[in-house]
Amino acid sequence: AGVFTYDPGFTSTASCDSTITFIDGDKGELLHRGYPIEQLAGDSHYLEVCYALLYGDLPSSAELEKFESLVTNHTMIHEQMVNFFRGFRRDAHPMAIMTGVVGAMSAFYHDSTDINDPHQREVATIRLIAKMPTIAAMAYKYTVGQPFVYPRNDLDYASNFLNMCFSVPAEDYNVNPILARAMDRIFTLHADHEQNASTSTVRLASSSGANPFACIAAGIACLWGPAHGGANQACLEMLKEIGTPDRIPEFIARAKDKNDSYRLMGFGHRVYKNHDPRATVMKQSADEVLELLGVEDNPLLQVAMELEKQALADPYFAEKKLFPNVDFYSGIILEAMGFPTSMFTPIFALARTVGWISQWKEQLDDPQLKIGRPRQLYCGMTARDYVDIEKR
Ligand code: CMC
Repeated sequence: AGVFTYDPGFTSTASCDSTITFIDGDKGELLHRGYPIEQLAGDSHYLEVCYALLYGDLPSSAELEKFESLVTNHTMIHEQMVNFFRGFRRDAHPMAIMTGVVGAMSAFYHDSTDINDPHQREVATIRLIAKMPTIAAMAYKYTVGQPFVYPRNDLDYASNFLNMCFSVPAEDYNVNPILARAMDRIFTLHADHEQNASTSTVRLASSSGANPFACIAAGIACLWGPAHGGANQACLEMLKEIGTPDRIPEFIARAKDKNDSYRLMGFGHRVYKNHDPRATVMKQSADEVLELLGVEDNPLLQVAMELEKQALADPYFAEKKLFPNVDFYSGIILEAMGFPTSMFTPIFALARTVGWISQWKEQLDDPQLKIGRPRQLYCGMTARDYVDIEKR
């Protein structure tokens, strides 16, 4: 037996080195390739950020044009995959559909599964970024029983996604540019977040040499949990359950109770112990969207604002350094846009795909790449003899 460092939850273990994303949790700082998230979310847009995450720097206009045209060329999915969607029950959770469909991409696109071929890696990268909005929108349409809407390559990435989700053949649908901007910002704010649980899952899956679609499907499965990407759905459900501001103290008391496992969803972060810089931008975006849609008096938002105020004023949350995280506000925006809560995590998954893929690429380029193989501290029985069943 060897001597191992015991670090459940990996609170002090670096699993890799990386040049993609930097987080200073004490300062509330998040940089992608050195660029602050506030600037990226304010001045840039998602596909530009994707390029920087994937290739190291922001693109020149020629590079961006080429990248955008590549992505838009791959937005459709293989028509045969439609049958795959149809195999699911209509009431399936869209995350279940996405996990299955993305995993199945390795059966439909096996000409881009050879990880040792740089060209195939690149094609898989573009395919995943291009097709993820189509897959997420189809998962949505399927569960609401509406016809699938094909991608439109004349629209930008976020507008195309909104169009695939909300247009129907019976009537004209024009994407509101303010909503498209807010959608793009949600994508940007979720694009990458260094070695979180789903990204670590992708890296661990990839360390065995698994194909990119299998690795991303593993990431989607991990993201689904309520302590991770599933928190945005859980947060909105919590706000609905609270219902009115006068019930907030009751829920705060439960979250503080040592004998109750209840937590305030959308609060707290493993790394950010001051504030989540993504939450600050998301809050501004939520204000803009709610103003546009004329729902400033949205009862959920009132509950959210009051909950934020009361929790921040409470010594329990201050001592434990629990602040609203990105999921606290994203849910409010998505709800106002008309998405059901079940689509919140799929939207996170489509946005995070670029982060997963960037980390996957970086890992494959690492000459020191080894299969991930944690050890354990065994605390079970010592060796003993097999006993015949009639003697037990
Ligand atoms: N409400 C009430 N108490 C909390 C909360 C919360 N949301 N989060 C942490 N605590 C308490 C926890 O009970 C513990 O108390 P004690 O020290 O007395 O045992 C202490 O704070 C530390 O918590 P922890 O679970 O050891 O911290 P962690 O770093 O392992 O967990 C977390 C981080 C994000 C999983 C956790 O804060 C949480 O469950 N938050 C709610 C879910 C959520 O919003 N998740 C989204 C995270 S951001 C987006 C993403 O990653 O996808």
